[in-house]
Amino acid sequence: MRYRSCDNSTATNAPMNCLWRTDLEHYDLRMVPLYLCVTLAVVAVASGAPPKAGDVTKVALNSGTFMPIVGLGTSKVTDEREMEQTLDAALEAGYRHIDTATVYRNEHLIGKVLKRWLSEGKLKREDLFITTKLPLYAMRAADVPYFLNESLTKLQLDYVDMYLIHMPFAVKREAYSDGRFDDNGTDPTTDHLAIWKAMVAEKEAGRAKALGVSNFNETQIERIIKNSPVPPANLQVELHLYHQQKPLVAFCKKNNIAVTAYAPIGSPNAKWVVLSGRNLPDLFSLPEVKAIAQKHNKTTAEVLLRHTVQRGIIVIPKSSNPKRISQNIDIFDFALDDNDVATLDALDKGIDGKLFNMKGFAGAENHPEYPWPALRNTPQKA
Ligand SMILES: NC(=O)c1ccc[n+]([C@@H]2O[C@H](COP(=O)([O-])OP(=O)(O)OC[C@H]3O[C@@H](n4cnc5c(N)ncnc54)[C@H](OP(=O)(O)O)[C@@H]3O)[C@@H](O)[C@H]2O)c1
Repeated sequence: MRYRSCDNSTATNAPMNCLWRTDLEHYDLRMVPLYLCVTLAVVAVASGAPPKAGDVTKVALNSGTFMPIVGLGTSKVTDEREMEQTLDAALEAGYRHIDTATVYRNEHLIGKVLKRWLSEGKLKREDLFITTKLPLYAMRAADVPYFLNESLTKLQLDYVDMYLIHMPFAVKREAYSDGRFDDNGTDPTTDHLAIWKAMVAEKEAGRAKALGVSNFNETQIERIIKNSPVPPANLQVELHLYHQQKPLVAFCKKNNIAVTAYAPIGSPNAKWVVLSGRNLPDLFSLPEVKAIAQKHNKTTAEVLLRHTVQRGIIVIPKSSNPKRISQNIDIFDFALDDNDVATLDALDKGIDGKLFNMKGFAGAENHPEYPWPALRNTPQKA
């Protein structure tokens, strides 16, 4: 598995089955302006050799850096042995982008594995793209340097490639203890602009190469864009077949913000669909997805991921299973055609397809910065 950087001259020599040719042709024909940033983002080759099936592409960020379009999600992996096996399998399979967060409580485990790979000379720091996130119980400007420093210490790194504000709403520090949030309540005093300013100071100090937000809505992002010289480089949001986020993605493309899809295969084992009261079938069981998978001789997961990647959106599927880890990045040797894309596009359910409402954080829906007003009155926690 190799990564590639920009060199248009190699594109014309590329084989038909690689992402570079097939995707650009596909999108050039259909929606040139909307996908201009995909064109910039799907990066080809510095080495001079044409891209091959299996090469992983990167998305250009407005910060001037590049983000691999497939990353590894790591939430819920908190066992040391499991993390070692997971990361070893992922790095062997070609993943270079790892997504973590303070609240996942696994940065120290990730740091240990990365340290080993780096010290053995199997990887250089610049090969990696590490994202972590400011926790929702640290949503004050003064907390930013402290919590980023904690993350860097645990990750055993001098900088992260992406630092995100994890949630637009906040809970009080005392509401968090040892991985659990109690009902001590939300902190309504959240000031995104003050926090963002502190994030920008970290970028200027070199401790974060790029900055972004997660779970923010359009209004919240626009407020930052209008009030800061440094716009977010990345928005990480729930995005999958049932919840394709078309308006938000269009807004981000217009503002040159790369989008990362979390729960990109619909978080199948979490049963969020049931939890959130929407009795939708599992994405893997949809006949349309199965038929497209069969047609391309791919798994349903690969089709779901490819559909999102083909929109120029970064995906961060989580798996701890070596076979599935490999499968989830093996999505660059085929392309969905216009019919496949139309079929899959039509399965979007908008807000009704959203799985996460974050009401597991007690009182989140009453916080002034709760980002999904349409979900305020849905009863279940998910
Ligand atoms: N910013 C946020 O607020 C936020 C929220 C949620 C998630 N995230 C990030 O996004 C990542 C991904 O989201 P997610 O973990 O909720 O959902 P996901 O990646 O859509 O789904 C993960 C689940 O699917 C299974 N799976 C993975 N690959 C598979 C395959 N090829 N075939 C069948 N099953 C497969 C995994 O089980 P196995 O491990 O057994 O394979 C796991 O249970 C998280 O890990 C985290 O890094 C961010």
